[in-house]
Amino acid sequence: MPTLQLTPLLHCRSSLLSPENSVFRHRKLRLRCSDQRQALFSRIAPVYDNLNDLLSLGQHRVWKRMAVSWSGAKRGDNVLDICCGSGDLAFLLSEKVGLDGQVIGVDFSRNQLLIASSRQQERSTLCYTNIEWLEGDALNLPFSDKNFDAITMGYGLRNVTDKERAVEEIFRVLKPGCKASILDFNKSMEPITGVIQEWMIDNIVVPVATNYGLAEEYRYLKSSIQEYLTGKELEQLALAAGFSDAKFYEIAGGLMGNLVVTR
Ligand SMILES: C[S@@+](CC[C@H](N)C(=O)[O-])C[C@H]1O[C@@H](n2cnc3c(N)ncnc32)[C@H](O)[C@@H]1O
Repeated sequence: MPTLQLTPLLHCRSSLLSPENSVFRHRKLRLRCSDQRQALFSRIAPVYDNLNDLLSLGQHRVWKRMAVSWSGAKRGDNVLDICCGSGDLAFLLSEKVGLDGQVIGVDFSRNQLLIASSRQQERSTLCYTNIEWLEGDALNLPFSDKNFDAITMGYGLRNVTDKERAVEEIFRVLKPGCKASILDFNKSMEPITGVIQEWMIDNIVVPVATNYGLAEEYRYLKSSIQEYLTGKELEQLALAAGFSDAKFYEIAGGLMGNLVVTR
């Protein structure tokens, strides 16, 4: 039976939905606070999967399969998907590790986890019963050291308030010799790729999101990519956190990227 454990979260400030603190107040949506990001992902949760399919023309499924493959997860493994959202990567991990294995999907948005849990219940495949959803913070993972055989993180690292800390946490809970695979938008060194990304966000993503009443939320994507790290910077961050190896792969013509790190 799927479980959804709700652990208490530490919030950086109270009452993020108060008018003076509302994300709607900031046109550029530079979300400095974890609470604001948590609220944003809870708001977009009901339409998140539809929009992913629409905006990537279904391609995000291929990139997620690649990310899971790079994680090295195999039958019987105990694996973790951080910032699991509605569960796409956790479902793929579940198929990889089988019923001998165990998957934990962790996210700080309760709404996203509730959707993940209901998707799990809708799916009749037995193997998905090996997934547990846990409310928790990527910056303070509720696990002991050296716990997991593989870790994935899809479109999460760009969204956390402290990327260094998130990578250190991944290092801490991963077993020695094992891999983590971190998929996200690529902050490309090629100016043309940045121009294409920004054009797509302004002319496709935001107009489509507007139809769902979520223009501001998706406008945040642009600043989050601008403030993200390049592939080289991500590799350096991982090595500084203690990983023995870090390789960044550009995918989707450089629009997306996947960091693969080995402890
Ligand atoms: C863009 S969604 C990605 C969801 C899913 N991994 C996917 O690829 O479809 C980012 C997710 O990260 C979660 N998130 C952001 N910061 C977090 C944090 N500090 N701790 C836990 N989850 C976080 C959000 O709640 C959201 O569900």
